[in-house]
Amino acid sequence: MSDVLLDNAVTAAREAGAHLRRAFGHGAVILSDAGKDLKISADKEAEKIIFARLAAVPGDAIPILSEEAGLVGDAHSGAGKIWVVDPLDGTLNFSRGIPLCCVSIALWENGEPALGVIYDFMADIIYSGVVGRGAWRNGVPMRASATQARSKAVFATGFPSGADYGEERLLAFVKQVQDYKKVRLLGSAALSLALVAAGAMDAYGENGIYFWDVAAGLALVTAAGGKYVKSQPDERWRCNVVAGAAGLQI
Ligand code: IPD
Ligand code: CA
Repeated sequence: MSDVLLDNAVTAAREAGAHLRRAFGHGAVILSDAGKDLKISADKEAEKIIFARLAAVPGDAIPILSEEAGLVGDAHSGAGKIWVVDPLDGTLNFSRGIPLCCVSIALWENGEPALGVIYDFMADIIYSGVVGRGAWRNGVPMRASATQARSKAVFATGFPSGADYGEERLLAFVKQVQDYKKVRLLGSAALSLALVAAGAMDAYGENGIYFWDVAAGLALVTAAGGKYVKSQPDERWRCNVVAGAAGLQI
């Protein structure tokens, strides 16, 4: 994986993050607020900044799958590579002034994660990783945890906007609360996975999560020595994902 692609993803994440940090706390412009979903203009503004930067790389045009724009470009160009972008993960947190939100940019190649960049722009922390090469938190190497027992593990999860809120699904959550030492719901799947890659948390799982929410985080966890299991995305790009420390039963 070329350094140009990683550098470009980091620059794109920093540029979008700087814009979002300036907008944070100044009142979100709400575009839609239906059911459990929320769309604000900041997502689209950040996406525009990221698209301009990613398109600046010469060579094969790599298609982009993004939360706001969907699939952009020719899916058959890019020699099996695809950018997967969530311009602002943790939209509700952002809109309420909760500083748990981030920019998430991944490159996947032939259905496998190749690199990931997650920018926690409120804390100014860049998580980056290249599968097979390593993962870094602000340039310092990071590893997934060595935790093996669920009773010692911190598990992150969430409930996507289109998820099953039926009692059976919620009973599975009760079981997680019982099994793990602690359960956390940060409101950002991407940030949760970055923290798993950094070894601060031990596992993450969410059913019906959108691929762009987890694409970069799964690359980071893999690059940091962790593991994941993901179902094939459905027609709306939703999948079931679990990821975590290599020695933990996930
Ligand atoms: C959401 C967050 C949240 C997860 C939802 C996502 P958004 O993304 O990642 O943690 O539970 O499934 O949709 O809407 O903030 O970009
Ligand atoms: Ca998202």
